[in-house]
Amino acid sequence: MSQYKVIDVQPIAGALGAQISGVDLAGPLPDETFAEIRSALHDNLVIFFRDQQLTPAQHKAFSARFGELLEVPFIRALQGHPEILPVMKGKAEQTKRNFGGLWHTDMSYAEVPPLGSALYARVIPPYGGDTMWTNMYRAYDALSDGLKAVLDTLRAVHSPVRSYGAKGAVVNNGDPAHKMDVRTDERASAEVTHPVVRIHPATGKKALYVNSTYTLRFEGMTEEESAPLLQFLYGHAVRPEFTCRFRWTPGALAVWDNRCTQHLAMNDYDGFDRELHRTTIAGDRPIAVA
Ligand code: SIN
Repeated sequence: MSQYKVIDVQPIAGALGAQISGVDLAGPLPDETFAEIRSALHDNLVIFFRDQQLTPAQHKAFSARFGELLEVPFIRALQGHPEILPVMKGKAEQTKRNFGGLWHTDMSYAEVPPLGSALYARVIPPYGGDTMWTNMYRAYDALSDGLKAVLDTLRAVHSPVRSYGAKGAVVNNGDPAHKMDVRTDERASAEVTHPVVRIHPATGKKALYVNSTYTLRFEGMTEEESAPLLQFLYGHAVRPEFTCRFRWTPGALAVWDNRCTQHLAMNDYDGFDRELHRTTIAGDRPIAVA
């Protein structure tokens, strides 16, 4: 029997991801309904809703049920809504590197990285532009006991520099050819360290916590020394059987847990517009294995 009384939860893949129906996110949600949605997020890591009609204020109100909303650095927010990051690519843009186009965990370069994000689809190409997620609990669990024991003791250095530094991959400094306005500033060279394996504060499970976009090296090692093991972990973490892939439709909303997933936006829709709005939910300082 389903553990859910109010919502319907249907997995979309074996590793993670579930579509929820029977909920209108525009209105005020009873506490019981929201508690089931949060449980579904903990159980499935990324949850999807279809055919929602949300104003920016309603998108923010729903996201804020999970926690305080963050303003994302480096990127111009939606006018009048500093907590909404517009993720856009126009039909005239031929960018090799789209926003979110490499596997990553949102803002792992922050001292206190976000709990999660909520991405709402406004304009979707007729094909392409899907988003993929991967399950970082599974990535950890599938490692040998020997490597787990090593990783449990390590910390890694994260930074926004590769994306948002002066030569950052997505910085366009307001070039009108780009719909998103992404600028560098002095915060781009900051570095923080996080445990390589983190304990999820709600589920108590261990998740691998490195990603190729923001992780630079292991603490106390050079980039060169760190690269072989990090490259192995990046590839291992995104094995197809750990992932799910979502085909967007206008009005769809995805909420994911940044503490135990990575995601990637496909860049396979040249000649079409794509626009989604993201809120980013404040999280907690990653907890290391004791
Ligand atoms: C993101 O990485 O936050 C955006 C993902 C997407 O555009 O699908």
